[in-house]
Amino acid sequence: MASEIRFNAFAMNTPGHLSPGQWTHPRDRSADYNKLRTWTDLAQILEAGLFDGLFVADVVGVYDVYGGGPAAALRHAAQVPINDPMLLVSAMAHVTRHLGFGITSTLTWESPYLLARRYSTLDHLTEGRVGWNIVTGYLDSGARAHGLDRLIAHDTRYGIAEEYMAVVYKLWEGSWEEGAAVRDRAQAIFTDPAKVHAVRHAGPNFRVDAIHLCEPSPQRTPLLYQAGTSDAGRAFAGRHAECVFVSGPSAAVIARRVRDLREAAAAAGRDPAEILIFSLLTLMVGETRAAAEDRHAECLRHASPGGALALMAGWTGLDLSTYGLDEEIRHIENDANRSALENITRADPIRIWTVRDVAERVSIGGIAPVIVGDARQVADAVEDWVDQTGVDGLNLAYAVLPETFEDIARHLVPELQRRGRYKRTYRPGTLRDKLFGRPRLAGWHPAAAHRPGAAPQG
Ligand SMILES: Cc1cc2nc3c(=O)[nH]c(=O)nc-3n(C[C@H](O)[C@H](O)[C@H](O)COP(=O)(O)O)c2cc1C
Repeated sequence: MASEIRFNAFAMNTPGHLSPGQWTHPRDRSADYNKLRTWTDLAQILEAGLFDGLFVADVVGVYDVYGGGPAAALRHAAQVPINDPMLLVSAMAHVTRHLGFGITSTLTWESPYLLARRYSTLDHLTEGRVGWNIVTGYLDSGARAHGLDRLIAHDTRYGIAEEYMAVVYKLWEGSWEEGAAVRDRAQAIFTDPAKVHAVRHAGPNFRVDAIHLCEPSPQRTPLLYQAGTSDAGRAFAGRHAECVFVSGPSAAVIARRVRDLREAAAAAGRDPAEILIFSLLTLMVGETRAAAEDRHAECLRHASPGGALALMAGWTGLDLSTYGLDEEIRHIENDANRSALENITRADPIRIWTVRDVAERVSIGGIAPVIVGDARQVADAVEDWVDQTGVDGLNLAYAVLPETFEDIARHLVPELQRRGRYKRTYRPGTLRDKLFGRPRLAGWHPAAAHRPGAAPQG
């Protein structure tokens, strides 16, 4: 039987996210990213559509590669201004019961000790509905904001991330035993000190000698997401990630990445089917095909080619302002986001990308295809995409916020349900329960080795 297709919504605490220019669209609310109501309304729309989660992207730094400064990004609102993603989640959790939240945090710029406490706090407050998208950053501007001249080299970042994960696993899984917080009113003991252990870590990048400050939360370690598809990124995902986000311009490119990721999971000793992979798409679904096409045409009129170029320059590290409009973009090695540069160079050997293509094609929903049609047409395309690529679900960008998601919930979800490819209710429990049928990380995961009483890692 064909498998269930999972939906995540993709957004960012900024106007437009992957659709620069749509903040000028009369129905778009993404320019109200700084109002709580925008987010609580969105969360309720997504839960009504039985989305598994809202994935909130983030980037620390400004897209200042295009033209050598931030002017283009600022003018076109290319992911700037951008507010902190994590602070949105308590309010959204308060108005929903099941929706999960995958939050992006750049580990390069914060201490593992504080990050671990913030995720534990949110996991408590959301009753186990929080996930962490583990990223290392791709903008030099973020490095300059932290006293460095440029980003730490690509593979070194992943090496640091490896040690960082060991530290947070020790804090989440190893510091507090189950039942340490006895809350014994009769004896006036809140926590049994014998069941709380100091984490002692001394490595090349981090030193910690402290107990975790939070009692165990429903999931302990938040659900772990990752999105890198370079060699180092894939190996990291194979070891750590429970869910992976991929993006690319065609089903063929995604299918290859999915195969490579499942191989990386198998190489790390896991069941490759257990890594859940979500790929980026934008779906514009209308009551009729003509209505959907009208909406798409309307969005094209508001799209910002300058914003698309500022974003792509930031992702790839290439200053596209120095290229001719019809010049082919060629691959080079650099320390930015390798998958993004692959997408427009080597990922599809028969597809050449020029600067004009980027300006025209990337301004709605980023690099991934935009599918436009009525519910049956889009459902056909989604089923084909999932079957051709082998992904477990979709990470859905919006053109117009929240309209794109309302249309999906109203028109597409019932069609996929009729076809037996979309759930009719949420599973109970934490986000990990909903996706994997267990509240805590599985025993194969490297974090499990840090649990009290676990055999030392060989
Ligand atoms: C769908 C998707 C979403 C991503 N979201 C973020 C993000 O919010 N913040 C970030 O810093 N990087 C994000 N990335 C970038 C990845 O974390 C990673 O840096 C990138 O894919 C390059 O990794 P690589 O060099 O291993 O290929 C995203 C990537 C993909 C494919």
